[in-house]
Amino acid sequence: MKKNYITPIISNRCVVDNVYKLVVAIENISARAGQFVQLKLPSDEFTLRRPLGIASIDQNRLTMFYRLVGRGTQFLSTLRADTQLELIAPLGNGFSIDHAKILLVGGGLGLAPLIFAARQSTDADVLIGGKNRSEAEVWRDEFDGAVSDMFIATDDGSLGFGGFLTDLLPNVLSSKHYDALLVCGPPIMMRRTAELARERDISCFVSLESRMGCGLGACLSCSIDTRNGRKKICKDGPIFDANEVFI
Ligand code: FES
Repeated sequence: MKKNYITPIISNRCVVDNVYKLVVAIENISARAGQFVQLKLPSDEFTLRRPLGIASIDQNRLTMFYRLVGRGTQFLSTLRADTQLELIAPLGNGFSIDHAKILLVGGGLGLAPLIFAARQSTDADVLIGGKNRSEAEVWRDEFDGAVSDMFIATDDGSLGFGGFLTDLLPNVLSSKHYDALLVCGPPIMMRRTAELARERDISCFVSLESRMGCGLGACLSCSIDTRNGRKKICKDGPIFDANEVFI
């Protein structure tokens, strides 16, 4: 059940390039992988809350990742330990992780919510896509111990397969059986992954992103067209069956 929290930062540091890892203290929260929080920055300059995916909840610690993309995230990156943050969590529907064998497919920051899915599932592999070795190694370390098998693709070939993860994915799907793909990353990657899953008749669920006004289903700013009509990413999603949104 969603609640308002006022909670201190435990740590907030850059892990690679412009990607930051934010850990806050949290108590009495239960969430599903794929759900998110709406974060209020402690400044009157920033009135809108920001959606951040939950990367893990562990021993009263909630971990999220974010990328520097504007003044808000720039401000967030300057906040130090013990700064109080206000957030609403958990929000959204979350992934279903009760498939026997899952392949997590994530590119860049899209890997963050899949860390939580790896920890909640009983048998998952992960396909990591990153720009280069230093980025892929950050995600590799986050998934270490939480998955059965790991596949890595880097754009520049400095770690694992050289190329996009969607170029490696057909080989992975030919080599092992999966009951479902859980996918998060750039839309073009998710669309291609959904096509490959459909060709092989594998269930595929994608995590969509959107600018969000309220995050609570009230403002319609996150509405999208789906096979089943207009849906709100914040309330009906952010997780959708790929066949519902990538037609
Ligand atoms: Fe307001 Fe989704 S963000 S309805």
